[in-house]
Formats: sequence, structure tokens, C-alpha cells
Amino acid sequence: MSTTITIRRPDDWHLHLRDGAMLRAVLPETARHFARAIIMPNLVPPVVTGAQAMAYRDRIMAALPEGMDFAPLMTLYLTEETDPDDVAACHASGLINAVKLYPAGATTNSASGVKNFDKVRPVLERMAEIGLPLCMHGEVTDHAVDIFDREAVFIDRVLDPIRRATPGLRVVMEHVTTSDAVEYVRSAPEDLAATITTHHLIINRNHILVGGIKPHYYCLPVAKRESHRLALRAAATSGDGRFFLGTDSAPHVDALKEHACGCAGCFTATNTLSILAHVFEEEGALDRLEGFTSLHGPAYYRLPVNETRITLTRGEDPVAYPAKIDGGDGPVTVFDPGFPLYWNVTA
Ligand code: NCD
Ligand code: ZN
Repeated sequence: MSTTITIRRPDDWHLHLRDGAMLRAVLPETARHFARAIIMPNLVPPVVTGAQAMAYRDRIMAALPEGMDFAPLMTLYLTEETDPDDVAACHASGLINAVKLYPAGATTNSASGVKNFDKVRPVLERMAEIGLPLCMHGEVTDHAVDIFDREAVFIDRVLDPIRRATPGLRVVMEHVTTSDAVEYVRSAPEDLAATITTHHLIINRNHILVGGIKPHYYCLPVAKRESHRLALRAAATSGDGRFFLGTDSAPHVDALKEHACGCAGCFTATNTLSILAHVFEEEGALDRLEGFTSLHGPAYYRLPVNETRITLTRGEDPVAYPAKIDGGDGPVTVFDPGFPLYWNVTA
């Protein structure tokens, strides 16, 4: 059994860096191992214009510690007021690599998201013309739909109609959590892809709810039953280029997670690569780890792959990760996979 593996430096195709003290605290956790990341725009207020995206990119670069090499790939937060010309100009100048669609109310800081999908039709049509990917948070917000069904219902009610009405629109179904989504992506042409998080490969809904409520395992879309987790593991380790890593690492301070109305989000930046190597080894697919973390994403986003490499080593003793990091405004709990990790990034 191999005990080291060298792969092209990974990218994270879905990441929350926040702003201010939290940005300074979490950015090194990603930049240590990742070359690039698609940066989610759900700040308060959200990143809706090119000017805001440029200013946010500058704040990220200013927060990057000396000697670290990292490129934020910026996104715009789609609203019913988004101007197709602004989107096209941001794309043409290289400022943005995607637009993010949050159904209004679907998740953290999504209040300014889309309620009436007809209103964003002109933007989506322009994006199809210019080949700019749309990152979709794929959950309906209809109160009549059970939270565990919201992703599957979204495919039928929103995603499939939008794709049919907008031929050529390139869509990334973000953080898929169901076998329904995996099957939908597999059955679609190559303009549809999906990101898969680290934590959804590890936890199912029992982890959140059995033996006491575990707020640090609560995220959106919420983890589903075990059969869905197994479908995600199969997709991630299959070598299929339409599935790639988007950690959705989403830090919240402990005070807001361990709360009567706890925030959604798992913070996985710190130990993601150790966990992924563990999962891919368990699935007998270590040779496919590089595809998932470092090759499929750039191919979909039409970007060059990274030329630098990292080495992961399987040690004799578990890697000692901190249980929490200092998030600037309070501690942030690092995702606990619930088992020891032996793989570590060593170079
Ligand atoms: C994300 C966050 O905290 O910003 N939370 C989460 O549970 N994933 C938002 C999101 O991606 O849904
Ligand atoms: Zn997210």
C-alpha cells in the first residue's frame, strides 16, 4: 500500500472566506494547501456588483500572509436587479469566474437572492452566450417541502426548467447531497457539473441528530440518509470529470453554532485534504484523488491546471489537528470526521 502520493496543487471550487477578522483567520487555512478557490459572495451586504467584487478581492489579497501564494476566483451574487452588462463586463475583464444563484432564504445570508426566476432570465441568457458558469445553491425554499427533500425537488422545479429554457447555460450544482442530484448530473450533457463537499462524504443525518444534537455537523444543504452519502462517495471517487471538490468550508464562531438557532456551515478548510485522502484510500481510489481535487475543476472552469504539486504522506500516528482555530471574533470549531486521520500534507 502506498504511503505517499504527489498530486497537482488542489483548488477549492466553493469556499466561504467571510470578511474582516474571520477572513484573516481562515484564509491561511485554505491558502496553505490550495492554489485557488471560488469565493462565495454571501457577505453582508452581498457582493453584487463588479466594484464590490474588486474591493472584496483586494481585501482577500491584503489578508494573505506574506509568502503564501493564493488566487481568489471571484463571483457575483445574483439578484433580481443584476445587470447583464455588468456581469458580461466583469467576465470580459477577468474579474469574475462565475455567478452565484441563491434562492431567497435558502441558506446563510441569502435574503437578497432570487424569488422569481423569470426576473433573472436576461442575465442567464447572457451567461449562456459568454460561457460564464452559474453556481447554484440547489434547494427550494417552499415551506411545504420537507428540508430533506428540498434538493431533489429543486432539480424538478427549478434546475431542469432553467436548463431547458436556457440552452448552453453552464451550471454547477453546488454541494450536492443526494443520489437524485448525482444521477441528474450523470444523465446531463457536459455543461452541467457538481461540486461535492468534504463533510458530505463523511456524515449522514444520524451524525447530526442521534445521541444529542450536534450543531457543528449542521450545514445546508443538510446531510441526508446513508444511501445518499454512499452515492456521493461513489461519484467523487468515480473519476467522472463532472464531479469536483467544493469544500463549502463555512466558518461561524462557536457562539453562533452552539445556539438556539444555530448557523448552518461546517468549517473544513484545515483538515480537508487529510480527510479526502482517507476517503479515497478507503474506496481504493487514491489514484483518482488528483482528478477530484486538482484536474476536473480547472477543466470545467476552462482554466489551466496548477503546475506546482503537494505531497500527502500516510504516517504511523494520527495527525494532530486543532479542535478549534481562533476566528478573530471567537473560536471556530474544525470539522471532526469522528475518526483519526493518518494522511497529512507534508510538502
Ligand atoms: C454557508 C454559509 O455559512 O455561508 N452555509 C452552509 O451551511 N453551507 C452557505 C451555503 O453555502 O449554503
Ligand atoms: Zn456554501
